[in-house]
Amino acid sequence: MQTIRELSMLRETIASWRGAGERIALVPTMGALHDGHMALVEAARRQAARVMVSIFVNPMQFGAGEDLARYPRREAADTRMLTAAGVDALWLPDVETMYPAGFATTISVAGVSEGLDGAARPGHFDGVATVVAKLFHQVAPDVALFGEKDYQQLAVIRRLTSDLNLDIEIVGIGTQRDDDGLALSSRNIYLLPEERQAAVALPRALGVAAATIERGGDAAAALAQARTTLTNAGFVVDYVELVDAETLGVPSPARPMRLLAAAKLGTTRLIDNIAVAPVDEG
Ligand code: PAF
Repeated sequence: MQTIRELSMLRETIASWRGAGERIALVPTMGALHDGHMALVEAARRQAARVMVSIFVNPMQFGAGEDLARYPRREAADTRMLTAAGVDALWLPDVETMYPAGFATTISVAGVSEGLDGAARPGHFDGVATVVAKLFHQVAPDVALFGEKDYQQLAVIRRLTSDLNLDIEIVGIGTQRDDDGLALSSRNIYLLPEERQAAVALPRALGVAAATIERGGDAAAALAQARTTLTNAGFVVDYVELVDAETLGVPSPARPMRLLAAAKLGTTRLIDNIAVAPVDEG
């Protein structure tokens, strides 16, 4: 696997792949790779002749007081995993490359960015949209893959890609989970052993609420029950919300819905989401 740290080298590599008529897949990450990322890489290998993975811990998407400084950085282990998975190139830009002195451009996606994590983490999705737009511009992939665990992020990136007429196919890959159901996340390593045990309440509460709603049960009561379950398990709940699966707006029981939650256990903020099928009115 080629490790690329300079924009000029990135451009050369992309040009040589393009010259050979090869389809290119991009998997953008912030590193500290786990099986969730590797599922994206495997899917990318099925989608394209060439797979580029980027690792960049993007300061612009962390708010004041968030975990930028302690976010895990594991370049050597990540490189080994990507090499073993047959990735062609790793793009490892530094902060000066991504945000040169005087950087003054922000990509802001209205609508889908605004509720949920957008409300809880002001500016977060501007940071995500800006860095992803830059990565798309640098690599110009044919296809880019993202995890559904960051469901709102995926919606923001789909909107951005469509709004900017980017000829990039956006592929969402289902959330990878530990055996007990906890969604894989680079942040899970922050959890103390007793917090890790309690964390399973998050996917369970979402599963129970989704099943209730799909059976035609009272959605507001199901969401309230999920919040209570999480609080009783030791979480401080940011939100548990039911939205339209596509627009992230007001849900309609006749359309696919998505149930999303964010909650903190100690100092660790976890997010998760689950599909909620349209309610069968028959
Ligand atoms: O999901 C992530 O790891 C990041 O938000 C992304 C998409 C790589 C942008 O920094």
